Amino acid sequence: MKIAMVGSGYVGLVSGACFADFGHEVVCIDKDETKIQRLLHGMMPIYEPGLAELVESNVASKRLSFTTDLAEGIAGAQAIFIAVGTPSRRGDGHADLSYVYAVAQEVGEHLSNDAVIVTKSTVPVGTGDEVERIIGACNPAHRFSVVSNPEFLREGAAIGDFKRPDRIVIGAEDDFGRDVMREVYRPLFLNESPILFVSRRSSELTKYAANAFLAVKITFINEMADLCEKVGGNVQDVARGIGLDNRIGSKFLHAGPGYGGSCFPKDTLALLKTAEDYDSPVRIVEAVVKVNDARKRAMGRKVVDALGGVEEARGKRVAMLGLTFKPNTDDMRDSPSIAIAQTLADAGVSVAAYDPEGMEQARPLMPDVEMKQDPYAAIEGADAVVLVTEWDAFRALDLARIKAIAKAPVLVDLRNVYKPEHVREAGFTYLSIGRGTSVKEKSRDGELAAVPA
Ligand SMILES: NC(=O)c1ccc[n+]([C@@H]2O[C@H](COP(=O)([O-])OP(=O)(O)OC[C@H]3O[C@@H](n4cnc5c(N)ncnc54)[C@H](O)[C@@H]3O)[C@@H](O)[C@H]2O)c1
Repeated sequence: MKIAMVGSGYVGLVSGACFADFGHEVVCIDKDETKIQRLLHGMMPIYEPGLAELVESNVASKRLSFTTDLAEGIAGAQAIFIAVGTPSRRGDGHADLSYVYAVAQEVGEHLSNDAVIVTKSTVPVGTGDEVERIIGACNPAHRFSVVSNPEFLREGAAIGDFKRPDRIVIGAEDDFGRDVMREVYRPLFLNESPILFVSRRSSELTKYAANAFLAVKITFINEMADLCEKVGGNVQDVARGIGLDNRIGSKFLHAGPGYGGSCFPKDTLALLKTAEDYDSPVRIVEAVVKVNDARKRAMGRKVVDALGGVEEARGKRVAMLGLTFKPNTDDMRDSPSIAIAQTLADAGVSVAAYDPEGMEQARPLMPDVEMKQDPYAAIEGADAVVLVTEWDAFRALDLARIKAIAKAPVLVDLRNVYKPEHVREAGFTYLSIGRGTSVKEKSRDGELAAVPA
């Protein structure tokens, strides 16, 4: 089957490469000339583990190609996926659908055979109806059906997620749409990945409901972490204690600096807008959005406190380890590091940073932060080291070396990567998230460690 993928970003490129790997003939289309030129020269526009090899092998076997020409790219395609961005609209937080509608218009104008148009972008309920209206208004001479097929892949594990999904959700309103989608996903069908056929509106809402629910889970454990700090509990033990309950599950119960990334922040906001438009409030999600926003700056204040408070912090220097919203991606969209760096700058603290993949994208977002070539260069002369993203490279830092080159041995671990007793034995003042930092804490081995307030 020939598939066209309009939009070759994180989702479009991964999905396109995986569909090609399933044996389909895929054309990835993007209006960004530089991106397509890079892809044609074998260079990846994003960092995603395993993607370069997957693209290379499928280009070599002529199943995957790239173009900026939409008319040429969609010609002969039975499935035309829309995988363009749907960022928050400035001012009101509604999903900006202008890119999706622009593609619908172009597809309508150039449709040269019967095709199913599949919205893979995350779009609010009712967007499929509008895509159908726009294409229909172009009076195409061919049959078309508009289907919703939201994507659930996680950056950093995108290829595995796409090839072995927990489920595939397809919102189709007719047999033509359902039949073509069954063919598109046949290889996964054979793998017994559950495929859920639902209405288009249910499918659109499912994506938002999934992301909002996960955002609730993260925010819930983050608030439990704050409470643990006050009462002297250990949030990792609490998370384990509740996560082993199958009704709750252990995933997304890692306390940290607040959720970020290209999906949760904008999708929770867009869901609030939909709820408002339909006069059906989702108050839990409203609270989650507020709590999470406040948390990112609170993490900056936690670092200021570790430097001795507002008066003492001015003029000091912090090393930030990790900038991306999570490891194994270069995506900086809405990363907590941005708010943390801003809070530190507001407090007169200078910041040096290192991230294995995210510094190029981070630079324009935090112009005052000095980007360094490795973690130790960032740590040199620092009054505190802040671990923001749990890249594997930071899990085994040489504490003795850090102590020798930093100005002060202070480690603020916003991801609970380190064992408190291990770091404290190395002579550090150690602060983490929700592990009883304000009172005596019982360590995992059962020892009592005296902890700085
Ligand atoms: N990133 C993720 O982890 C993820 C996961 C699930 C769902 N999604 C959703 O998928 C969608 C895409 O997200 P992304 O992260 O891949 O975005 P992205 O910004 O990385 O990529 C979007 C691409 O679309 C291209 N584009 C825009 N308008 C175009 C047009 N008219 N014609 C051709 N190309 C065009 C852009 O140049 C860009 O390369 C969003 O709706 C997002 O919410 C993202």
